[in-house]
Amino acid sequence: MQTLEDLTKTCTIIIWVASALHAALNFGQYNYAGFMPDRPTMSRRFIPEPGSPEFAEVESDPEKAYLKTIPNQLSTLLGIGIIEILSRHASDEVYLGQRDSPDWTTDVVPLEAFNKFGKSLEEIEKRITERNNDESLKNRVGPVKIPYTLLYPTSEEGLTGKGIPNSVSI
Ligand SMILES: [Fe+2]
Repeated sequence: MQTLEDLTKTCTIIIWVASALHAALNFGQYNYAGFMPDRPTMSRRFIPEPGSPEFAEVESDPEKAYLKTIPNQLSTLLGIGIIEILSRHASDEVYLGQRDSPDWTTDVVPLEAFNKFGKSLEEIEKRITERNNDESLKNRVGPVKIPYTLLYPTSEEGLTGKGIPNSVSI
């Protein structure tokens, strides 16, 4: 890095990846994949070839054939347990734009920048809510009526499908 612009860009990428990008992928895992048949984590056998006994079973009893193919009950329980833990927010989670130590600095310039950043996060949360309620946006207001919440900056404790922690451990 040679310039202030290089440093700013690099810090922005690190903050984005470790906060919002991670949150958008991580905290929806339970909602999207908590029901194993929707998103099996593995296949226990090859896709059957036409003419084979396994293919005949798919044709005659597809549900039974599918259950023989996706993970068994023990693997499924372990998988669901792991993604539930990964998708939860702790009670002491510190979200993007928040600090757990209010006296982290007395310098006015970073304090003002931090406040400005917090305000723009509030604006983003409002914009996400508006888009979720805009019926002209079919990717937001579809037949199942599940709002997009993964990039809401804040959340409550638990399995919420929203909230961007300030940092990640894994
Ligand atoms: Fe993660």
